[in-house]
Amino acid sequence: MNARKETAVYTHGHHESVLRSHRWRTAANSAAYLTGELRPGMSVLDVGCGPGTITADLAELVAPGGRVTAVDASGEVVAQARAYLAERGTGGVEFATADVHALAFPDASFDVVHAHQVLQHVGDPVQALREMRRVCRPGGTVAVRDADYAAMIWYPAAPGLDTWLDLYRRVARANGGEPDAGRRLRAWAREAGFTDVRSSASAWCYATAEEAAWWSSLWADRTTASAYADTAVGGGHTTPAELSDIAGAWRAWGADPDAWFSVLHGEVLCRV
Ligand SMILES: C[S@@+](CC[C@H](N)C(=O)[O-])C[C@H]1O[C@@H](n2cnc3c(N)ncnc32)[C@H](O)[C@@H]1O
Repeated sequence: MNARKETAVYTHGHHESVLRSHRWRTAANSAAYLTGELRPGMSVLDVGCGPGTITADLAELVAPGGRVTAVDASGEVVAQARAYLAERGTGGVEFATADVHALAFPDASFDVVHAHQVLQHVGDPVQALREMRRVCRPGGTVAVRDADYAAMIWYPAAPGLDTWLDLYRRVARANGGEPDAGRRLRAWAREAGFTDVRSSASAWCYATAEEAAWWSSLWADRTTASAYADTAVGGGHTTPAELSDIAGAWRAWGADPDAWFSVLHGEVLCRV
C-alpha cells in the first residue's frame, strides 16, 4: 500500500448549503453510466461518499447479498451518511474515514470501486486511481465521474456568474484540486495504468423555475457562508464585498423565468 496522504484542501467543505446539493444526488442522476454493471451480491467501495445518497442507491442495487463500504476523508460527513442510511433503512453498508490516496484495504477487495465528484478535489488524482485499482479485483470495475467547471453553461448571460466561475476555478486550483477534471479523467486513468477505459459524458440540467431557484440559492449561500468563502477570502483571491455581489448575481439569475443551467461531467469505466 502506498502511504502518500492528501495534500489538497476540500474546497467546498460540508456547510448545509453544500450538503443541500449533495443530498439531491441519486445513482440515476449521477451514476447512470455505472448502474448497468451492478448485480445483486457484488461488493462496492464508494470513495468520498459525502452524505451518502448515492451510496444508499448503490447498496440497494447490489442487494440482496451485496455489500457497500463507504469512505470519506471527513469523519463528520461519514457520521451524517451513517445516520442517513439508518433513517432510510438501507442495510449492507459499512463506513470508515479514509484518504483515497492510501486506502486501508487489501489488494483485490471489491468488485466495483466508485468515486463521484471526488478526484476533482484531490491532490494527486493519478495516485488516487492507482489506489482504487489496487483494491479492485481483477476483472472488476473502477468507476469515476467528475464535473468540468470550464464546460458549465447557462442562460441568460450574467457577468456576476462569469466572475463566480473564474474565481471558483482559481480557488479550487489554489487548494490543490483540478476544477476542469471531467475532460481529464481518461488521461488520468491511462496514466494510472488502466488499458481498458470506456469514457462518456453526461450532464445535470436545471431548467424549471423550481430547479433554477434551488440551484441558484444554494450557490448564493455557498458563495458567502461555506468553507469556500473562507478560503477564497483568506487566500487573497477575493473580498467579502465581491462574494456578496456574486451571491446577488446568482439570486437575480435564478429568478429569471428563462434561467437554464447545465453541468457537464466526464465519466470513465475502467476494467481492472
Ligand atoms: C463533492 S463531494 C461528493 C460526495 C458524494 N460522492 C456525492 O457525489 O454526493 C466530495 C467528497 O470527497 C471527499 N474527499 C475529498 N478529498 C478526499 C480524499 N482525499 N479522500 C477521500 N475523500 C475525499 C470530501 O470530504 C467530500 O465529502
